[in-house]
Amino acid sequence: MRYIAFEGIDGAGKSTQIALFNSWLTRRYYTPITLFEPTYGPHGSAVRQAIEANQPISLEDQIRRFTLDRKQHVDNKIRPLLQFVRSTASFVIVQDRCYLSAPAYQALGKAAMLSLLKEQRTIAPAPELIFLLDAPVGQALERKARKGMRKGLFDQSPVLTRVRENYLFLAVESGERVRIIDGAQAIEDVHDTIIASVADQFQQFDAHKG
Ligand code: TYD
Repeated sequence: MRYIAFEGIDGAGKSTQIALFNSWLTRRYYTPITLFEPTYGPHGSAVRQAIEANQPISLEDQIRRFTLDRKQHVDNKIRPLLQFVRSTASFVIVQDRCYLSAPAYQALGKAAMLSLLKEQRTIAPAPELIFLLDAPVGQALERKARKGMRKGLFDQSPVLTRVRENYLFLAVESGERVRIIDGAQAIEDVHDTIIASVADQFQQFDAHKG
């Protein structure tokens, strides 16, 4: 397995779990290459800033910005790195968000979700596995508040409730390889669940084989 993504609502614990997952891979002598969307390119920075500052930004504008950012990310990083990891045994791409965020956050209704997903799939290659960290909205908002993070455009219960439902719909109906992980568990238990589902794919890498 060479390309894994993590998804979930803001505050679901993606960054914590990615850090734990990367350490686990490293201990098995794999080298994770961490990518994230939105990127810090011009479009990604602009849209992230607008969201964090709670600026009004139309849905169309969000889609346009995230998509332009993703296109650059795919061309400049994802495709070249995929070629690299597929030819070099011990490297793995671990990505914080992928195109699945687009229908989850930027689509209203099931039909819109599926058509936006279809569009995004023409741009971006599919991860072999997407972990969806599914956490209750109240818990996610609390986690963000505890970290002292400012309330952004999406950090409201009704918005995140819709996004969470969208993710669950996409996990079942989109045809993507999504594994739903119960993010309400303690951090170590979430990690163990993630590991249990991929451990057989990542046997201790034999350093002598290169
Ligand atoms: P996030 O993963 O929280 O990035 P960071 O931790 O670096 O700030 O992403 C920022 C926000 O962007 C988050 O609220 C989700 C949103 N987002 C979308 O709405 N659509 C997308 O396609 C992507 C990639 C992100």
